Amino acid sequence: MNAIARGRFLPSSSSSRNAWRHHAGKALTAVVDKRFLSLPTPGGTSGFQTVGCVGLGLMGHGICQVAATSGVHSRVVAYEKERRFLDTGRDRIVKSLDKLVEKGKMTMGFANDTLGRIEFTTDLDALKDTDFIVEAIIENMDLKEDLYTKLGELCKPETIFASNTSSLSIGEMAAFSGRPDKFVGVHFFNPVQLMKLVEVIKTDQTDSMVFDKCYKWVEDIGKIPVSCGDTPGFIVNRLLVPSLMQAMAMVDRNDASVKDVDIAMKLGAGHPMGPLHLADYIGLDTCLFIVQGWVDKYPEEPSFFIPDCLVAKVEAGDLGRKTGKGFYEWDGDKCGAPAS
Ligand code: 3HC
Repeated sequence: MNAIARGRFLPSSSSSRNAWRHHAGKALTAVVDKRFLSLPTPGGTSGFQTVGCVGLGLMGHGICQVAATSGVHSRVVAYEKERRFLDTGRDRIVKSLDKLVEKGKMTMGFANDTLGRIEFTTDLDALKDTDFIVEAIIENMDLKEDLYTKLGELCKPETIFASNTSSLSIGEMAAFSGRPDKFVGVHFFNPVQLMKLVEVIKTDQTDSMVFDKCYKWVEDIGKIPVSCGDTPGFIVNRLLVPSLMQAMAMVDRNDASVKDVDIAMKLGAGHPMGPLHLADYIGLDTCLFIVQGWVDKYPEEPSFFIPDCLVAKVEAGDLGRKTGKGFYEWDGDKCGAPAS
């Protein structure tokens, strides 16, 4: 059991502003940006007092956590449809906060305050008065349509919606919401707690003031925003995913082993992880989903193709880190030897 769950953290004896001061006095890391040395302004520069996070999976729990860690929101509502997914998401947040405390990057009091700022719920109604909602549910347009139709009817008219989709059309989702002018993409990277970049996506219909607020929100939570249009894969995935597919195609052709492809890109190109390690880290089902969507939509684009080994691994249920086996064997978050 981890430290927060064991109750090893000191109870938060002070207000969150005092806790913030305590926290900011510690060595700051990538998790807490230096700009937060001064006390955060409630609502930040975006003016979003309350934020909703829909979906607490691999990406969603991280988004929820960094929003709560920023200290600028009075309330962060974390929504999952089912209690078991809500509990898993909460556990992931606790585990991550625990890790940050154990590494001396966050105080116990601050971790407790962060957790206390999050309202975990399976009741969609809890989102209705939030100023900004980030959705990170599974990449299924039918499910997104259902969600955005409901949220569009439920939420106050000013609520701005953002999707963390990695490959679906923001414009299509915006249409379901009934408020396409108040809809953007905010695309985070895995692991959300450590990766600094967020792509902020605008469609032809996004109101420029709405876009500016969302861009500022990304800065408020200590990340670095870049702006991109509603184009397949935005910037990073458009460049990254085809390179992962090329690495898999090399394995399919027996050009090089899994291990050697990864060593080569780490030591020869300075990447923090090799492409096959990274594909496992992202999830092979996610990689397949992204590229399948592109192949279907853009069959003429030669950089969009599906390697045989990717299909075989997904069909075998070897999805990478999340299932304990992909191109590598995994022990939790630790990557082991190449899988046989
Ligand atoms: N919360 C808190 N701490 C965490 C954490 C989390 N979620 N994840 C990792 N850490 C901790 C680790 O436990 C580790 O602590 P330790 O030093 O005590 O072991 C520390 O952070 C650093 O982790 P690593 O030892 O693994 O060190 P690295 O220097 O390798 O950094 C990394 C890890 C930042 C993940 C780095 O390997 C990296 O940048 N990899 C590439 C990631 C990447 O490309 N992501 C984008 C994927 S594409 C995507 O997400 C888009 C989507 O649409 C598909």
